[in-house]
Formats: sequence, C-alpha cells, structure tokens
Amino acid sequence: MSTIERHYTPEDPTEAVLAAIKRAGHDPDHLAPDVLAPLEDFHIGGRRATEHLAELAGVEAGLRALDVGCGLGGPVRYLAGRGCDVVGIDLAPMFVTLANELNRRAGLGDQIKVELGDATAMHLPDAAFDLVWIQHVGMNIADKTALLGEVHRVLRLGGKLALFDIMAGDGRPLHMPVPWAARPEDSFLAEPSHLRALLEDAGLAVTAWEDASNALRDAVPRPPPLDGPPPLSPALYIPDAAARLGNAQRNLAEGRIRVVYAVAEAS
Ligand SMILES: C[S@@+](CC[C@H](N)C(=O)[O-])C[C@H]1O[C@@H](n2cnc3c(N)ncnc32)[C@H](O)[C@@H]1O
Repeated sequence: MSTIERHYTPEDPTEAVLAAIKRAGHDPDHLAPDVLAPLEDFHIGGRRATEHLAELAGVEAGLRALDVGCGLGGPVRYLAGRGCDVVGIDLAPMFVTLANELNRRAGLGDQIKVELGDATAMHLPDAAFDLVWIQHVGMNIADKTALLGEVHRVLRLGGKLALFDIMAGDGRPLHMPVPWAARPEDSFLAEPSHLRALLEDAGLAVTAWEDASNALRDAVPRPPPLDGPPPLSPALYIPDAAARLGNAQRNLAEGRIRVVYAVAEAS
C-alpha cells in the first residue's frame, strides 16, 4: 500500500458512502446527478469551488478534460455533466474503484474513464487534453516540477490548466493532522508566488490567479456530528474526520494555509 493510499483510504470507503446515500432516502443503484453533490467534492468549498473553477477556466461542452488526483470523482462527474469528455486518474486504488462504482450507479460508466495513475509520471499520451483539472492534490506532491512538466506534456498547445489548491500561509507550523497529511513531513504546501513562478517555468502562462482564503474561510467541510450517523459530506470518508477537518478549519482561519484558484495556458 502506498503512503497516499494508506493515508486517504486505510479502509474501503464504498460501504459507508453507499449506506449514507441510502439513509438520506436515495436509491444507491440509480443516482440522480445532484444526490452526490454534498459529498463528492473532496476539497474546501465543495461543489461551489468546483463551479467557480469551471467558470474561471471557461469550461464548455466538448473539451477533452483530465482530472488529476480525481479522488472519488465528484469533479469528474461535474465536468461530464457540463459536456466534457473526461478521464480521471488517482494514485489510491480504492478511490478509483469508488469513483467507477459511483459513475456506474449514476449511469455514467460509459462516459467517464477513471484509472489508476501518478500525477508525476502519467501514463497518458502527449497533447491529448484541452483541459487539465487539479483540485487539492498539490499538497500531496513534493516534486511540483515533475507534476507541472507532466501537465504541460499532456496539454495541447493553448490548452488550459485549472488549479484549485491549498498553499502555504504565513509560515507558522500547521495544526496536525489535516485531511491531506497526518504528519508535517507528508504535507508539501507550495508558497503561492513560488508556485506561480514554477507554472511559468513549465510553460504554463498564468491567466487567472485568485486567492480565496477569506472567501472560503468558513467553507471547510463540517466535522461529523458527535453522535448519530454522519450526513452526506466528505467527513464520511475522511479517517479521523473530526480532528482533521477541525485542524484544516483552524489553519485556514489563522492564516497558516491559503487556498488559491489559478488558470494557466500551455505555450
Ligand atoms: C483531497 S483529495 C482531492 C480529490 C479530488 N481532486 C477532489 O477535489 O474531489 C486528493 C487526491 O489526490 C490523490 N493524489 C495524491 N497524490 C497523487 C499523485 N501523485 N497522483 C495521483 N493522485 C494523487 C489522492 O489519492 C486523493 O484522491
């Protein structure tokens, strides 16, 4: 089991997710598009942030899109719903399985492909995508140069990277554990101006840059209730969710982390 897999999915989250869907009164075998929206976007701001990134990147029907680090596939399904032709990759096999399971139950099994893959060494061909989509993945990746080199390689000339990531804040240590890491040495937050320079160095010209730390101050997913079954939210599949989400909230509120949207064009 890889470190990422051990961290994100020490246990298969499929059963908990399907049980919560059922408890909420939905048919897990025939998922309507909006049923999953409260739980499937595994990042600060949830679906709202996904919609905002799509707006910034000018998402339109017909784009060939790649979601790198797609998790359980919320943004992949969202982009498919917007008419994009979507592939998702993720390093954690259990998320790949869950994403494909949810795609099948939502009737999207033929439309979306989710595969095992490493963002820093993608198995995908050159210039194959109009859009590369990355939400809350960079903080798990130490080698940003490898990541951005791969993004540039798989994008066609003029294609866009749409990024929404957690970045370094004021330099004080983080309250740990957080949803993306249990220990400080497993968290790789880029300093925003450094990441911006790395994008340019990789041939990705920044066309939009928005620091949303204040706007999303209260948009960390809520920790689960102390008693009773958890509602439809990412807390369902985050191990030790109360501590991790609570710390993410504190880190953001105290300026120890920042959240940034960026769009960059491949030249
Ligand atoms: C916080 S989740 C975000 C999931 C999804 N992007 C979303 O916003 O709903 C981070 C995801 O990145 C994946 N990941 C981390 N490092 C990766 C890598 N090197 N290659 C591919 N996926 C990776 C993890 O397995 C996890 O599913």
